[in-house]
Amino acid sequence: MGLDIILFSGRANPPLATSIAHELGVPVARCDIDRFADGETSVRLGGDVTGRDVVLVQPTSPPVNDHLVELLALADACRRGVAARITAVIPYYGYARSDKRHNELEPIMGRVVADLLQTVGISHLVTMDLHTEQIEGFFRAPVDSLTAMEPLCTAMRAELPRDFVVVAPDAGRAALAARYAQCLGAEVVVLHKRRTREGVEMVRVVGEVAGRPCLLIDDMISTGGTIAQAAKTLVERGALPSIVVVATHGLFIPPARERLDMPEIKSVYVTDTIATPLGGWNKLRVVPVGAVFAHAVRRYIERLHRG
Ligand code: R5P
Repeated sequence: MGLDIILFSGRANPPLATSIAHELGVPVARCDIDRFADGETSVRLGGDVTGRDVVLVQPTSPPVNDHLVELLALADACRRGVAARITAVIPYYGYARSDKRHNELEPIMGRVVADLLQTVGISHLVTMDLHTEQIEGFFRAPVDSLTAMEPLCTAMRAELPRDFVVVAPDAGRAALAARYAQCLGAEVVVLHKRRTREGVEMVRVVGEVAGRPCLLIDDMISTGGTIAQAAKTLVERGALPSIVVVATHGLFIPPARERLDMPEIKSVYVTDTIATPLGGWNKLRVVPVGAVFAHAVRRYIERLHRG
């Protein structure tokens, strides 16, 4: 049954918004979003939101600042239009990697974004596979922090050979690798990564990969440097050159495709949290997650009305 909500989409990923709306049994409501000549964002909602539950769908994917400002403008229009509540579905949360200071001269942008979203009236956040879970603590508002692990594992199962190992490309992803390993019934190997001026370098492999097929995991692929370097290191250590890669968020900033289109990598699985810039690449598998977001939105709205 259709929910009593109004759902708007920003311009970052309209196909995902359509899929969420379809699962919820509602249309994507009209709104005009444009850019003034000087680069400022202009937004006009296509209908009255007074007293309504509003859902805004917008990953803050590249160009991150533009997509973030679009979302802020949409939310502010809804708040000033006296919406009852505003749920932001932010499938990919930009700036999540800025969750702490590495030295005292840096900002914490993940927190700045959380403050901005709440300032414009966002009262509920739905997001997926945050880079670090502490981002949730930046919000006073309720957060549904979802994971794509189940649909990704389901999609990959048929392709994964026997006896594969799950590989984390750095220590920060060891916990994520353990969750994949538990979901798929496999062992974990952890690489240790060091950032250099030229990019990244893998300095240590903890675990045995010789003669084994590998599933290389990450939360996101940006320029592909981490995954390409990890794949190279694994094959140098004797892993089979048919590596399957999986990450929730495929940003694929150039030269990601050139880097990942190496013979050692057999396929790359991502979800549709970000509209892919690599359509048509034969190694890419995009797993839809609209239904996961729709389920969380439906549960939230139904709980509100029950309470
Ligand atoms: C880092 O901590 C993240 O989990 C990813 O490994 C990283 O952001 C990927 O970036 P790139 O694809 O540019 O190496």
